[in-house]
Amino acid sequence: MKLNDKMLKALNEQINFEWYSAYIYQSMGAYFKGMNLNGFSNWMDVQAKEEMTHGFKIYNYVFDRGNQVELLAIDKPQASWKTIADVFSVALEHERKVSSRFFDILELCRELKDYSTENFVQWYINEQVEEESTVQEILERIEFAGDSKEFILMLDNELGQRVFTGGAFAASEM
Ligand SMILES: [Fe+2]
Ligand SMILES: [Fe+2]
Repeated sequence: MKLNDKMLKALNEQINFEWYSAYIYQSMGAYFKGMNLNGFSNWMDVQAKEEMTHGFKIYNYVFDRGNQVELLAIDKPQASWKTIADVFSVALEHERKVSSRFFDILELCRELKDYSTENFVQWYINEQVEEESTVQEILERIEFAGDSKEFILMLDNELGQRVFTGGAFAASEM
C-alpha cells in the first residue's frame, strides 16, 4: 500500500536530514583532518558513511511502498568549532534532534495507523539510543582529558581504529 502524503513528505525530509547528518560529520572530519588529528577524522569519515546508509534505508523503503523519492536541498554544514569538545557537543545536540524527529515520525505513524512504517522506524529509534550514547561517551572522555594533549593523542589513536562495516546494511542489522 502506498504511503500517505504526509508520511511520504516526512520520509523524504528524513532522507534529507540523514544525508545532511552525513554532511555535518564529513565537515567535522575535514576540520580534524586539517588539524592532523587523523583518528578523530577517521571516526567522522565512518560516521558520515553510516549516516548515508541511514538515508538509503529510508530511500529503499519509500520505493518498497510504491512511492517516488524526492531529493531535497542539503544545507551547508558548520565548518569550524572552538574546541574538540565543542565538535562533539554539537554532534550530541544534532543526534538528539534526529531522535526527536523519529519520535515525531512515530507519532505520525500512530495517527495514520501506518503500522508498517511504525515497525520500520523502530530500527531508527533503537539506533538513536546507540548514536547518542556513543557521542556522549566520547564527549565525556574529551572533557575528562582537559588540557592533556597526551590523552587527546591516545583518544585520537583509539578513534583511528574505527572501521566502516556497512552501517544500516551491516549483516548484523538486516
Ligand atoms: Fe542517522
Ligand atoms: Fe546519527
